[in-house]
Amino acid sequence: MRKGIILAGGKGTRLSPLTNVISKQLMPVFDKPMIYYPLSTLMLSGIREFLVISTEYHQDSYKDLLGDGSQWGIDISYAIQDSPDGIAQAFTIGEKFISDSNVALVLGDNLFHGNELIPKLEQARKQTYGATLFAYPVNDPERYGIVEFNAKGIVCGIEEKPKKPKSRYAVTGLYFYDNSVIEYSKQISNSNRNELEITEINKIYLNEKKLKVQLMGRGTAWLDTGTIESLHEASSYIRTLEHRQGLKISCPEEIAWRSSWISDKDLEGLASPIANSGYGKYLLRLLNETLNEKELHKPHSNQSMND
Ligand code: TTP
Repeated sequence: MRKGIILAGGKGTRLSPLTNVISKQLMPVFDKPMIYYPLSTLMLSGIREFLVISTEYHQDSYKDLLGDGSQWGIDISYAIQDSPDGIAQAFTIGEKFISDSNVALVLGDNLFHGNELIPKLEQARKQTYGATLFAYPVNDPERYGIVEFNAKGIVCGIEEKPKKPKSRYAVTGLYFYDNSVIEYSKQISNSNRNELEITEINKIYLNEKKLKVQLMGRGTAWLDTGTIESLHEASSYIRTLEHRQGLKISCPEEIAWRSSWISDKDLEGLASPIANSGYGKYLLRLLNETLNEKELHKPHSNQSMND
């Protein structure tokens, strides 16, 4: 059993004044709130139980938007992070929620999309032992946690924001851990910038020889939406693909419906009140697809279509 945490705290200072009163992860990325994307990523991996961590100030907005998840055949609960003291804090805040399960963590402003993604996500979810990270080549490795590989291509180090990066492969904001992550998160202490760094946890897994790093290739998009430019780029990316294909990216209603977590009637119930919007019209259109089309786009049976 694996549970999912979406970390949606932080101050979003780089998006000010947009984020003066609205949480960053509620900002629109083209046609849906940002948090739909990381939530969909974890739903596509097959996870159905979630904890959303946010600031206290914004928690009610998340509850209003996502509810208890039952409308999408999933379960969502909520917790507060008082101040952004580091990504690794998610596991102490979420300790009760995780209980004795394995867990996946995704950052609320990270957006993943691509062809090979669903099988990789499913594989990571099913792995019962150790940790799985995803590494992605970037142009500006100094800004990220960077993976170092030895001559055989095996991971031999991870460095947080290195001045002289040993590769261009950044650790993305999507992490799958076994239950030891709770214990490890209590072993680490604050870094120079006074944060509980996720890299420290990853280093423990690496030292214990329990770390697997999956590479994401050029067929995959990993976008973060933390700056005005990257937020705009992400919106344009989604708009271009959705416009071309007539298929939505990271639509939780659709993922739930294609996974048979909700019925046709449930989907209709979600779509009808918002039938005025393009989003609602899209959901209604799905219902008119033939059974064959539904099967073709099913997340867990046809990997090529739905990620
Ligand atoms: P950041 O982009 O590092 O921080 P931020 O969202 O507060 O933005 P800014 O730098 O503009 O002030 O965080 C990346 C993601 O992780 C984002 O979704 C917020 C989340 N996060 C937390 O929820 N709590 C934390 O303690 C940290 C470090 C990040």
